[in-house]
Amino acid sequence: MTVSDETLARLKQAAGPRGYIDDPAAIAPYCTPFRDGWIGETPLVLRPDTTDRVAAIVRICAATGTPIVPQGGNTGMTGAAQPHMGGDEVILSTGRLRRILDIDPLNDTITVEAGVVLADIRSAAEGVDRLFPLSLGAQGSCQIGGNLSTNAGGIHVVRYGTARSMVLGLEVVTGDGEVWDGLRALRKDNAGYDLKHIFIGAEGTLGIITAAVLRLVPRPRDRATALVEVTGPQAAVELLARLRGAMGDAVSAFELIHRNCYTLAARTHGHADPMAGQQPWRVLLDLTGQAPPGSLREPLETALADAMEAGLLSDAIIASSEAQAESLWQVREAQAEVQRRAGSGIKHDVSVPVSLVPEFIARADAALERAYPGHQICTFGHVGDGNIHYNPIEPPGWEAARWVAETGRINRIVHDIVADLGGSITAEHGVGRLRMAELVHYKSAVEIDLMRRLKRAFDPANILNPGKVLPAEGG
Ligand code: FAD
Ligand code: MLT
Ligand code: ZN
Repeated sequence: MTVSDETLARLKQAAGPRGYIDDPAAIAPYCTPFRDGWIGETPLVLRPDTTDRVAAIVRICAATGTPIVPQGGNTGMTGAAQPHMGGDEVILSTGRLRRILDIDPLNDTITVEAGVVLADIRSAAEGVDRLFPLSLGAQGSCQIGGNLSTNAGGIHVVRYGTARSMVLGLEVVTGDGEVWDGLRALRKDNAGYDLKHIFIGAEGTLGIITAAVLRLVPRPRDRATALVEVTGPQAAVELLARLRGAMGDAVSAFELIHRNCYTLAARTHGHADPMAGQQPWRVLLDLTGQAPPGSLREPLETALADAMEAGLLSDAIIASSEAQAESLWQVREAQAEVQRRAGSGIKHDVSVPVSLVPEFIARADAALERAYPGHQICTFGHVGDGNIHYNPIEPPGWEAARWVAETGRINRIVHDIVADLGGSITAEHGVGRLRMAELVHYKSAVEIDLMRRLKRAFDPANILNPGKVLPAEGG
């Protein structure tokens, strides 16, 4: 079934004169994801520039049973922001909801519309000498509405938490087209259920976020960056505990990276490997703080020297300038793009308790080696959050297509270990379509039923991103 001409005409009128795209060539990028092949079809991309227009669009869709796919910067990893094939869904892009509505340095808050690009929020915060700490490789194009709808993580979760922890208030258009104005800039508010948290991480299935009040934090004055060759994942988590013990919250990024990620980055992007050693595991870390520039270097050197003596690491580069720090981060920040270009890595975005990361990696590597001798490890991730991007690549000599055909079996091997360790099959990218079947497989019937009840309550007409996160009922 496609959307009727009459409905399309009403939707265009509601979106306003420059508020829609119906030219198939201009629509194509909205239907094409960053990776993983979720290409979709739609007759119409709606680009409203006010919340009232969003609400008017949702009311028409609810009345006509027309599914809506909300879309921000279209950088998501799970096929959640593209329509299905068939042309019976419309996309609602937040790209024109791009106003910064307020910034209040004394309340440490910024109020923005959903389509503001993450990097622009970070720049606006810097403009008043504050930090908006959400930071990820896609920040030049992802939008805050998408970040909140995926509860994005990124590299600073270890210190500041996920996107959820940075939100004080939301404005949301509900599934029946009402506007909930929850744009409160309060740090304490126990007046009833905390509705904002229902919409955060819901991947556009429970409401359309149109604006948000976000928390700002003091802008760090000092930063020390180090790339460290550790003796293994166990040494990495012990190093984290030591640094936290010595410097507390100063630990603001702590990433584990397998050496193969550097080899790939050299191949796909020509990035030189800054470290000569042949040990497989490295940690890239940032310390930040409010003391004058240079203050963190000495305690970092001391802590790393102690850790070396304890046998946790075999080499370390401490950046001697901001430029060197940026260059140490280059391979890590490019990793999503590096692995996209490299092609055949099978992506996992798992989390386990931080203390169990070494066991997870050891068991998953061993199980895959038994099943696929010679497969290549390409693991990296936010070890400080217990979140590992576990992306094995085919054994030498295999056709990429043969490897990709093994995705279901490989997912099951990896996710069974994650489940056994009390972990999650997605830490930060979300479910979308990519992990819908896995979600149902690993969650209890009680939890899936509670989720379905929420969906029915918030989206009674089932028009908000149907067929994402939860499979169709009875399907
Ligand atoms: P989209 O991709 O457009 O949408 C994502 C989901 O949110 C979809 O379900 C969509 O329907 C929904 N949605 C979008 N806007 C709204 C709205 N206003 N209301 C309701 N629903 C909405 N993620 C991490 O967590 N950590 C990382 O470190 C990280 N690094 C990345 C690096 C790169 C290079 C790339 C390409 C992606 C990365 N991601 C990372 C994936 C991440 O999910 C996204 O980058 C980002 O959070 C999505 O924002 P977006 O605006 O692109 O959303
Ligand atoms: C990252 O940490 O770089 C992102 O989550 C992207 C990815 O996993 O590819
Ligand atoms: Zn990540």
